[in-house]
Amino acid sequence: MTRNLATQLEQRLPSERLELIRAAGELARELGAGLYLVGGVVRDLLLGRATFDLDLVVEGDAPRLANLLAERREGQVVIHRRFGTAKLRCQDLSIDLATARAETYAHPGALPTVSPGSINDDLLRRDFTINAMAIHLDPDNFGKLVDPFGGEKDLEHKLIRILHEKSFVDDATRMLRAIRYEQRFDFQLETTAEQLLRRDLSMLHTVSGDRVRHELELILKEEQPEKPLQRAGELGLLQEIHPSLKGDGWLKEKFPQARSVTYPPPLGLYFSLLVYHLSQKEGEDFIARLRIPGVTARAIRDSLRLKENLPPLTSPDLSPSATYRLLQDYSPTSILACAIASDSSLLHQRLHLYLNKLRYIKTSLNGKALQQLGIPPGPRLGEILRSLHEARLDKKVKTREEEVELVRLWLSQGA
Ligand code: CTP
Repeated sequence: MTRNLATQLEQRLPSERLELIRAAGELARELGAGLYLVGGVVRDLLLGRATFDLDLVVEGDAPRLANLLAERREGQVVIHRRFGTAKLRCQDLSIDLATARAETYAHPGALPTVSPGSINDDLLRRDFTINAMAIHLDPDNFGKLVDPFGGEKDLEHKLIRILHEKSFVDDATRMLRAIRYEQRFDFQLETTAEQLLRRDLSMLHTVSGDRVRHELELILKEEQPEKPLQRAGELGLLQEIHPSLKGDGWLKEKFPQARSVTYPPPLGLYFSLLVYHLSQKEGEDFIARLRIPGVTARAIRDSLRLKENLPPLTSPDLSPSATYRLLQDYSPTSILACAIASDSSLLHQRLHLYLNKLRYIKTSLNGKALQQLGIPPGPRLGEILRSLHEARLDKKVKTREEEVELVRLWLSQGA
C-alpha cells in the first residue's frame, strides 16, 4: 500500500505553510500539472525533525504556476526562466518551485545538461535515496509518498546510499554531502557507496573551487562540524582538498572550544583552525583552490602568520602597549584562532587581554586637541599621539586631564 504522509504534513507543518501548499496543489490541478513536495523536507518529515525549506517540483511549467499563485495570494515572485525555477514569497513565507527535469552530465564535474522531465526523472538526478523522495500535493493524492529508490527503508536502516554507480563521478561534491548527512543524522555510508567514494576521491579535482568551498561551508554550518571533518579525514577526502589537511582529534578538541567562546563561530574562525597546521604557503594554496573570499581569507592568512610570530608574546613582563603593538595588525578572528589553538595559558591571557580590552582603548585627546595644545600638524604630532596611546594602554594616564599634563611635560622637555 502506498504510504500516505497527509497526517504528518497536517501535524508538523505550520498551518500557513500547509494551507499554501494545499492551495498550490489545487491550482496545479486546474493547470493539469503534477505538484510535489521534494527533497530535505520529505526526509525531515519522515525523521520527525523540524523542517523549514519548502521545495516544490512541478510536472509542468513552474514559473507559470508560481505567477498564478502569486496573483491569487498577493505574493511576489522571482523567476529564473532559464532554469525553469521560481521563488515565491507570500507574507513571511517563501517557497521554491522548480520544473521537473532530467539531467545528463557531459563530463565529470560539468554542470548538468537539463531537459523537462517527470517527477521520477527529477528524483533520479538527486544525490541520495533519503533525499530522493517526494510527496504528492494534488488534492486527490495529497500526502502520497513517491519513493522510487527505497529512501524510507534507508532512513529506517540509517543508511546514506547513492542512486547509481556513477553518482560521485557525475557530481563529486556529493562525497562531501554524503559525510555531512551521515554525521548529522548518525547514519552510515552504505557499503557500496563507501567503496565508490573511496574509488572516486580524485574526482573532487573535477569540481570548481567555489562548489567545493560551498560544500565545506555547509559542513562548517553543521552543529558539530568536527564530526564530518574527522570522517572526511578518515576517508581521505580532506586530503583531496589539500594534502596537508587533517581531520583528527585536534579539531575535535578545538572546534567545541571555538563554539564555547563565540556562537555560532564565524566561518573564518573554523577555517583558520582547520588549516592551522599548514604553512603559510600551503594556506595560500588552500585559499586559491577554494577561492576563499575577503574576510575569511584574511582570517586564514593572519592566523598562519601570527602562529609564526607568537614567541615574543610569551616573553615575561610584556607591557600592555607591547602586546598591543605585536597584535594590532592581525584580524580579531585570527587572534582568537591562535588563542584557541594554543595550549599556553600565558598566551591565552595575553591574546584575550588584547581582544577583550586593549583593542578598544583609545586616547581622549585626538589630533585636533593636540594642535590646540600648540603642536603643528606633521609626523611629530603622529608620534605624540602614538606615545600617548601607549601611555594610556599601560595605564600611565587614565583621564583627559592626565593626558594633557603628560603632553605638556613632553613639550617642556622638547619632545
Ligand atoms: N540535491 C542533490 N545534489 C546536490 C544538491 C542538492 O541531489 N548536489 C538535492 C537533494 O534532493 C536535496 C535537495 O536537492 O534534498 C535540496 O538541496 P539542499 O537544500 O542542499 O539540501 P536539503 O535536502 O534541504 O538538506 P539540508 O538539510 O542540508 O538543507
